[in-house]
Amino acid sequence: EAHAPVTRAGRIVGGTKTTITQWPWQTAIAFRPSVAAGNGFQRQFCGGTLVTPTFVVTAAHCFYRNGGFPSADQYSVITGRTNLSSSAGQEIDFDSYFVPVDALGNPLFNPDAFEFDFVIVRLSVPSVSSTIQIAGPDERATWAAGQPAFVTGWGDTAEGGGAFPDALRIGRVAIADDLACADSYAAVGTTVRPDTMLCAGRFGGGVDTCQGDSGGPMVVPVSGGGFRLVGDTSFGIGCARPEFPGVYGRLADDSLRAIIGDFILSQTGIDVIGSGARPVTLTMITQGPKKMTTKRKARFVFEASEPASTFRCRLDHRRERPCASPFLVRVHPGKHKLRITAVNPLGERGQPALRRWRVLGR
Ligand code: ARG
Repeated sequence: EAHAPVTRAGRIVGGTKTTITQWPWQTAIAFRPSVAAGNGFQRQFCGGTLVTPTFVVTAAHCFYRNGGFPSADQYSVITGRTNLSSSAGQEIDFDSYFVPVDALGNPLFNPDAFEFDFVIVRLSVPSVSSTIQIAGPDERATWAAGQPAFVTGWGDTAEGGGAFPDALRIGRVAIADDLACADSYAAVGTTVRPDTMLCAGRFGGGVDTCQGDSGGPMVVPVSGGGFRLVGDTSFGIGCARPEFPGVYGRLADDSLRAIIGDFILSQTGIDVIGSGARPVTLTMITQGPKKMTTKRKARFVFEASEPASTFRCRLDHRRERPCASPFLVRVHPGKHKLRITAVNPLGERGQPALRRWRVLGR
């Protein structure tokens, strides 16, 4: 490979261990015990998201093979389980799965380009786990480029690592700009279409979904608490490479959202589309000290994504206190960190920004 992946051992790639309690809508897609041997860990092959007690959204490419979609009778969904090898939660058979089709009845999923990489699974009995709503038309700002997002799954912890964790893992990424993502992929001959795909990653790489995470959720935090579903893990070039964010099914945009929303509404009467949620406020530090400096005085300039926000600053292990931009600190030689958190006009804390620097000298 041309690029060595930036990875640290034991992650989604670059993530950390988490539990199903934190992300209760996360499911594992597995072969039924009657089809494959072993426990849930051995039979799992994709992730999925519970959007109602009986409906799961996952990726079409998880099932597609030999030019078509196999019958539902070999698959199951595991809910309420952190460690796949355990018997916690429920394992529920697929009742059926719905592959969205065009006017002629042909699957919208395109196995060459991975457009419309989603299917809707109906469970044979309801899951008792909590569900998540898809971001609605008035909630687009929650998944605008630059907003934080979380990806979860039991996928590989390193590109080509074959290191599949038993426990659920979480990675923090940011929604990527559509054009920038399409450009990166165009350079290697892959078309990323912003009508059906949404990219997310980290500047500099290092955090991403990977093989085995497919179909699983990408969610965004919303102001005042809670999350919305905006994507399902679809593909990438390697995993966590700096120049290639992960590509997700664009579940929260008009075409995919309408298909999912209308289908489930017609089947159950349940509306799986969210409304009224606002984006979390971002804190952005635009100026600060050099990473290594001899200067004891540091000047920080920062702003919030939401107008009329106020700020709270925490220097090293001191108490957090109100602050404003520009913010001046004077510190002793050594390692320091400043955490700045924007607070919106409603008093809701935003995503903090953190800066670490080191003052040389004695
Ligand atoms: N296609 C993979 C799967 O089936 C998911 C790959 C995601 N890759 C990435 N770099 N984000 O599990």
